Amino acid sequence: MSLCKIGLGLAALGRPDYINIRSEHAIDKSIDAFRANAFKVLDESHNLGIRDFDVAPSYGLGEQFLQDWNDSRKHNDVNLSTKFGYTYVANWELDFSDKHEIKEHSIAKLNEQWEISKALLPNLKIYQIHSATLDSGVLKNTDVLARLYELKQQHQLKIGISSSGIEQVKIIEVAQKINFDGVDLFDSYQVTFNIFEQSCFNILKELLAHNKTIIIKEALANGRVFKNTKFSEHEKAYCYLEKLSKKYSVGIDAIALRFIIDALEPTLVLSGAANTIQIKENLKALNFELDENEIKNLTLFRIAPEQYWQERSNLKWN
Ligand SMILES: NC(=O)c1ccc[n+]([C@@H]2O[C@H](COP(=O)([O-])OP(=O)(O)OC[C@H]3O[C@@H](n4cnc5c(N)ncnc54)[C@H](OP(=O)(O)O)[C@@H]3O)[C@@H](O)[C@H]2O)c1
Repeated sequence: MSLCKIGLGLAALGRPDYINIRSEHAIDKSIDAFRANAFKVLDESHNLGIRDFDVAPSYGLGEQFLQDWNDSRKHNDVNLSTKFGYTYVANWELDFSDKHEIKEHSIAKLNEQWEISKALLPNLKIYQIHSATLDSGVLKNTDVLARLYELKQQHQLKIGISSSGIEQVKIIEVAQKINFDGVDLFDSYQVTFNIFEQSCFNILKELLAHNKTIIIKEALANGRVFKNTKFSEHEKAYCYLEKLSKKYSVGIDAIALRFIIDALEPTLVLSGAANTIQIKENLKALNFELDENEIKNLTLFRIAPEQYWQERSNLKWN
């Protein structure tokens, strides 16, 4: 049985608009309702055995919700992770038409966001560069890298990157070479891997063999694993997922999560549950195993990263 755990990511819990593919979304979008829902999902997740929680300053009020929950619940068995590099700018305006988050990988942004995020200590265990890219220059920014190394030593943190886009493999290749005095800077990699996007499989296996922490995000391809007429190219995958869902008496989400657990055996797969029903459904992934043939069949539904990320960039925030 795999040792992989399921963690909870707060991307959908801290701000009123996120990538929502399905249409039935008549929910109360007030700050109070979001705060109450976030606490409910956090409490339920902890009750159900989840101990790993991932957030970022750009998830609206997500980081504040997690800090308040962490301070009030005083659990001493949770592992929190956050990031630096993106700022939330939509100011809780519904249907905000501009970019909701602005990227800035400067030393000034790192210092500014660290001052807030450090309130998560000592439960903060992983501190990550949010969406490190080659073009942002962050993996060559010696001020940023040295400061991260300083934080790693001062607070016994694991330092990580998260990656997105067609260059995920290249980004990881660059990151894994960065070291200070022979010590790797990065201990943790948060990467997109799912039924449709499997380009990082080999490099993630290599990192796992070197005892790195591998956290999988966007495990449900932002909801695209669920049958959807807008994505007709995934029709065969939808039919097969439905067949497995019936066989194991779980939802498509649990099959998609289990595929990652069985095929890759990462350290952690993040659930992006938006409510307590979804987290309960997602956790059913821990109650069964896919057989070798099923894993192989699901592996065949991968598409070219260029196609995957083009489709991803067309998704709307609502
Ligand atoms: N570092 C980065 O750049 C980055 C980027 C993305 C994500 N992440 C991390 O990864 C976490 C997960 O990623 P994600 O939320 O973007 O993507 P995801 O896990 O692929 O998709 C989550 C979405 O799937 C739907 N869903 C989940 N369970 C369901 C169920 N049982 N039934 C129906 N729908 C269900 C929900 O959509 P609806 O809201 O439509 O119901 C939910 O918002 C985030 O919270 C965050 O911590 C990091």
